[in-house]
This record gives sequence, C-alpha cells and structure tokens, in this order.
Amino acid sequence: MNTPQHVAIIMDGNGRWAERRGQTRTTGHRKGVEAVREAVRSAGELGVKYLTLFAFSSENWRRPEDEVNDLMGLLKFFIRRDLAELHREKVRVRIIGDRRTLKPDILSLLTEAEDLTRANDALELIIAFNYGGRDDITRAARLLAAKAARGEIDPGSISEDSISSSMDTAGIPDPDLIIRTSGEQRISNFLIWQAAYSEFVFLECLWPDFNRAAFEDALREYGNRNRRFGSVAERDLALGS
Ligand code: FPP
Repeated sequence: MNTPQHVAIIMDGNGRWAERRGQTRTTGHRKGVEAVREAVRSAGELGVKYLTLFAFSSENWRRPEDEVNDLMGLLKFFIRRDLAELHREKVRVRIIGDRRTLKPDILSLLTEAEDLTRANDALELIIAFNYGGRDDITRAARLLAAKAARGEIDPGSISEDSISSSMDTAGIPDPDLIIRTSGEQRISNFLIWQAAYSEFVFLECLWPDFNRAAFEDALREYGNRNRRFGSVAERDLALGS
C-alpha cells in the first residue's frame, strides 16, 4: 500500500461524544486523550513517519475558561504520563504554534519533551498547540520582514522555500494526508500553507472512537487517490495523452 509519510489529524467530536452519553465535555476530552495514544501507536505500526495532531487552536481560547483549563491540563497530563514511553519507543516530540502566550509551566513541559526526544527517529509526533495557520504565516512574514529591515535579506529573494523554512513546520515535509473526524468537512485554519497538495479524508467517527481500524480506513482511502500535484496522472503521461 502507498503509505503517506505525513498524516495530520483534526481531532473533532469530543464534545458530541460526551453529550450523546449525557456526560460532561471534560469526559469527552479525556476519552480523546486515549484516542491520541491509539493514534500514535497505530501511526508507528502502520509506517507513518510524521503525525501532526491539532490539540488546541488559536481560536480555542474563545471556549469557556473551565474548558480551556481542562484542555491545558490534559496536555500536561499526557506529557507527564506518556513522555517516558514515547521516548522508549523512539518518538520525537515537536510542538508547533505560538508559544509566547503559554503559561510557563506548560511551556517548560513542552520544551522538556522536545529536548528529551530530539534525537529520536522512529516517528515524529507534532503537537499543534495554540496553533493557527494564518498566525503561522503571519509570524513567518514578520520574521522575514525583520531580516529584510536589518538588511540581511533582499525582499526580492523571498521565495516559497524561505517562507516554508520560517514557519513552525520548518524541516517537516508537508502533510500528504489530512484526516478530520466527526463528519465535519472544514480545514479550520489548520496547516493552511502546508496543505496546498494534501489529500483530505473525512471520517464520520467522533474523535474518542478513533482507533487503528479507522486509521487503516483513512489510509486505504488515501491509497486509492491519484495525486497529481498540478501535473497529469502517470498513466496519462505513459499513454502520451
Ligand atoms: C475537538 O472536539 C477537540 C478539541 C478541541 C481538543 C482535542 C484535544 C484532545 C484530544 C486532548 C489533548 C491533546 C493531546 C495531544 C494530549 P470538540 O470539543 O470541538 O467536539 P465537538 O465539536 O463535538 O463539540
């Protein structure tokens, strides 16, 4: 099977999963963390090299304060509980998103996870936290503008490559496949620059129900797609059409 090198996931539906069971949204997010573990394990087993998970968007601050605190708490809980095992399994952890507005305790945990696992190479787990695609592009633009103002670069030399390497995802290949759960079909400001040629698979299952079988379904669907990157299909090239 044609396995995508980089899979990115919009983990949606924790709230609905809980509501359907008459439970709190917090319970839904907690179940969501179990699905995160399953996704990381499955990615490694299925031969995916980069897995990006959208854990908290720049827009999620608009949620009630208690829910924001819950989501922060769950990320801390996940890092504290799972970091040693991720390291044992040779997973490299990387964080994308705006770090400047994060509280010092969460920032130091995230940095610790990145530092500890920097040399690992079995799987790269990229956690998008306080992440927004437009914000990522805006920060890259500021960085390049500042370099130009200092005379370090010529504005005319700014290229797609120099923008890519000024973004949080510098050095990470663009996602081949973006999965969104819960039946919603939107990108919601996730990796909008990097998704230029990504395939999208929308799954009906809610995030807490995501498991290896759902992951395999998405990879199977990806395997049936014909990626052309603006060119024509290889089959058509061979036929000379
Ligand atoms: C969407 O469900 C999910 C989120 C906004 C957060 C996802 C976070 C986790 C799974 C836990 C922490 C992450 C890691 C990496 C440990 P929703 O609340 O929008 O669901 P709804 O659309 O049904 O209300």
